[in-house]
Formats: sequence, structure tokens, C-alpha cells
Amino acid sequence: MDAYALRRVYLEFFQERGHAVIGGASLIPEHDPSVLFTTAGMHPLVPFLLGEPHPAGRRLTNYQKCVRTDDILEVGDRVHLTFFEMLGNWSLGDYWKDEAIRWSYEFLTERLGFDAERLHVTCFAGDADAPRDDEAAMVWRDLGIPEARITFVPKKDNWWGPVGALGPCGPDTEMFYDMQPDGPIGETPAANQERFWEVWNDVFMEFDKQPDGSYIPLRQRNVDTGMGLERTLAALTGASSVFDTELFAPIIERAQSLARAADPYALRVVADHTRAATFILAEGISPGNLDQPYVARRLIRRAVRYGREMGIRGHFLGELAEVVVQIMGDAYPELMEHRDHIVSALHEEETRFQRTLDRGEREFIKAVTQARAADQNELPGAMVFRLYDTYGYPPELTEEMARREGLSADMEGYRRAFAEHQERSRRGAAARFKGGLVERSPQTTRLHTATYLLQAALRRVLGDHVEQRGSNITVERLRFDFTHPTRVTPEELQAVEALVNEQIARDLPVTWREMTLEEAREAGAIGLFEGRYGEVVRVYAVGDFSLEVCGGPHVEHTGALGRFRIIKEEGIGAGLRRIRATLEDTEESSG
Ligand code: SER
Repeated sequence: MDAYALRRVYLEFFQERGHAVIGGASLIPEHDPSVLFTTAGMHPLVPFLLGEPHPAGRRLTNYQKCVRTDDILEVGDRVHLTFFEMLGNWSLGDYWKDEAIRWSYEFLTERLGFDAERLHVTCFAGDADAPRDDEAAMVWRDLGIPEARITFVPKKDNWWGPVGALGPCGPDTEMFYDMQPDGPIGETPAANQERFWEVWNDVFMEFDKQPDGSYIPLRQRNVDTGMGLERTLAALTGASSVFDTELFAPIIERAQSLARAADPYALRVVADHTRAATFILAEGISPGNLDQPYVARRLIRRAVRYGREMGIRGHFLGELAEVVVQIMGDAYPELMEHRDHIVSALHEEETRFQRTLDRGEREFIKAVTQARAADQNELPGAMVFRLYDTYGYPPELTEEMARREGLSADMEGYRRAFAEHQERSRRGAAARFKGGLVERSPQTTRLHTATYLLQAALRRVLGDHVEQRGSNITVERLRFDFTHPTRVTPEELQAVEALVNEQIARDLPVTWREMTLEEAREAGAIGLFEGRYGEVVRVYAVGDFSLEVCGGPHVEHTGALGRFRIIKEEGIGAGLRRIRATLEDTEESSG
């Protein structure tokens, strides 16, 4: 079985069990300030897990592209990736643990032919917030999984969500496949990740995490499952790692053919990072210094660094990206559509990085000279971190280079500097989340409607090439990223602001109805159509001014918005602009 077939049989299996196939969402979350990327299939479904009816029904299934940058330093082992695909099925207040687990088991063992004897599972051990999940364990026992292959583990391992700080979450049961069935008896998944690969996670989302950290029951009990496509494919085909599947082998082969001294670990990093960067660029993003553009930059630079270490010369990422497009283009047509942008963005970033590397090289020589002058035989940890963070030098490489100069490198100090940096970013992310997606105050709802008016106004003033590339709403302001080749002039901004305020003054009604995507497109609605077909969606109309595919919520009349004001307009990457705006109360809006 190949990846294409695996996606298909998964969707078919759940379709046979009453699930509607829905399209995957963009990698850039819409209207969600909490995270930079879509990290799981459930992410775009949060409003529906909270109880809003989904137009396609209560049973859904899809495959979803995901990016998780937390794992970036794990990449290179057998299973970790920064970009991966998740196969998922959901019950929105419909079926519960029994069906979910039975179907997971049936799909793995009967449809895919996994050996039931090699299947291990974990269940939630219970704590003050929720009881031990004996219900899930009972289903597993009933299916024939013996006690020895069922482990109970605490919240840190068997509780999933929320995305960010608040929202739907719950205990889960995870399925692992034993990749070394001849290994020591009695070993459990928690103890050996190399041996036991987590392939699937069934989450029982019945809780809503509150700002004070407590968990209250959701309006409905949901099931959220996620199966890792790459791991499942590897386990299924007997590959020794995800990199030995058809999803990666051609990328690795191409990189290897360019390398003078190929190294298995470096090849994996190059392959993973090139693939992830290709998908991020396919969202219309270009490398930059903030947010998603920064992640693209970091991935590209790490790939170049590791490429160089293997003696690859000149530009090479564009060539590898072409291989990614060949492998993945059938499942993700957006790759073909954005192919030129992907290749040219990679080329430009490689050129820019070469200059940075030359500067890093000079930094390094300076640091070595200083250490020698001070009679020290160690390169400070802060310098190792600086070379890593600013110049993209992997720490092991700096260590190696230092050794060649007869110095050691303070790796302990590097790890401390790294941990401090992570703590700072974590705090940044927590601040970013304040008032996130699940925070549905009247103010965020008003800003959400204002975002639509803004987009429609931008298209009228600047032209139809304007497309949304990201949106972020807090209680204080909205932030909207969109495509536009040049700076937006003050006159244009004024015109946009005035046009939005005019619609507010008209007190237009906001209404919605359901239609198929094709009908929505016919009707001239804007929104994310890419790679989605036949789905029933909700289309919101703001009077005669805007028509958009969207899940809501919105105000009922635009008069409730108050006064719209643009605070700032800036460029955030090639062809990408960002506007921040607020709503100020007026008598009509607060009255
Ligand atoms: N949301 C869960 C996960 O990411 C199941 O899809 O593992």
C-alpha cells in the first residue's frame, strides 16, 4: 500500500460508517491567534467541538496537513517530523468510546492487516480532574488485548488538548505498534519510543479547559482521533523509519546524489525540513523574521547548513522541492499551483543565507581568537547559541569546528541559553494566546465581522488579487495578513477605513445560509476553496458588501461594530502585508 491508497482506504472506511469527508484546512489557522500552524486535524474543528453544528453533520473524516515546530530538534530519529499528515475521524456529540475504539482496532487489524499481537495501548490513569479510563480499557480487553499490553499513564502522556491554553480537551487512548516484537518481554510504550511507535490517538473530548485551569464538561461529548500517516505507512510497509517510505526516499536519494559525504542523520534533516518549508511556502508565505515566515526561514537555513556539512555545493533546495511536489502534488494540488513561488523563494533564501554564513564564519573566528587571547580553551555556551540562533549553525557543528581549532565548546552553557530562549518564546506564545479562538466575547465577535468588512474593502480599493493569508484576533484588535505586491499608501488606507465605516453606518444585516462549495463559488463567495470539493459550508453575507465561506460567529448588524480604525500597515515578507485595526465604541455600538 502507498500513501495515496492509505489516505483513500481510511476515508472510505469511515465513510462506510456514516462519516462525511471534509476537506483539509490551510496550514495557517484562520482566526486563531493561539498558534502559528495547524497542528492537528481537530484544530480547525474547535468551534464544532464546542457545540456549533457542523454543516456536514456529526460524523466527519479527513486528512490534514500539520506542522509542529516543537519537534524540530527531534527530527533525525525514526519517527519525528516537523510536517506530517494526520488522518482523522470525529464524532461531534455522536458516538463515544466503544465505537471509536472498535473502529480503530478494526481498521488497523482488518483493513490494514496490522498484527493484533503487536498492538499495545495506553489509557488515562485518572487524577483529580477526571477518573481513570476503565471504560476505554474495557473495550480493549473485550477486543482481546491482554492486560499486559494495556498500560495506564498520567495526564502528561494520555490527555490531549487544548490547542493553546483554553478549550476542548480530554483523556485519550493511544495505540502503539511494536517494531521489535522479539525485544524484551514486559517493556511498555512509555519506556521505549524507538521500539513502540505511536500510530493513532483516540481522544475523548468532553472537557473545556477554563482560564482558571479547571475543567468543566463540554456541551457535548466528542471523539477526536488522529492517525499519523507517515508512521502508519512505515509500520505497514516494514520500513525502518518514516524516512524509508516512498514519501521520503526520493528526496533522500536526490540529496544523496548531490552530496560528497552523505550522512544518514543530515539527510533526514534535509528531507524533513525541505518538505515542511515547501508546504509553508505553498501557503503564499515567504521567509522572513516573524511568525510563519520565520519558521520557513529557520527550516530552510537548517536544511542548507546540514546540506553543506555533507558537501552539497550551490543552490539545491529548489531541486529537492521539485521532488516534494512530485510526491505530494496529487494529494495537495496547492503545491503545483505555487511551484514557481516555492522554488524562487527557496533560491532567494539560500542566496541570503550564504551571506549570513560568511558573517557567521567571521564571528566564529573572532570568538576563537578571543578565547585564545584570554587563555581559555573553551568556546562560551552563549556563543554556541548565538551561532545557532542567529547564523543557523547547528551546535554539533560548532562543537566540531571548535575541536578542529583545538578548543572545546561549552555545550552545557549552550543548553542553558537554549532553555532560556525557549522559556521566553513560551511566554510569548502564552501572551499571544490570551483571548484566543475559544474566547468568544462580544468584542472578538465584532472584530471578526470587522475582519470581513476589511477584506472586502481591501479588494474593492486595491483589487481582487487581495487574498487572506492569516488572521489573528484578540479582545483589543484584529490583525489581518493578505497578499499585495506593494506598500498600501496612506490614501488607500484612508479609503479602506472610510469604506468599512460606511458599511457600519449602513447598519447592514449579517446573515448566513448553507450551500455546497461549488454553489458558494458560483455565488462569488471568497474563502478557502483549495483542495475542497462537494462539501456543504456556511456562507455569511454582510448586506450586499461581502460574501464569504466562514464558520462564524458574527454580529447580527454591522451597526454594533462602532468605529473602525486602522492602526498600522506593514510588510511581513515578499508580497505579503499586515494590517492591525481596532473598533472604538460609539453611542450606537455600546447602546
Ligand atoms: N488531536 C489528537 C492528536 O493530535 C488526535 O487527533 O493526537
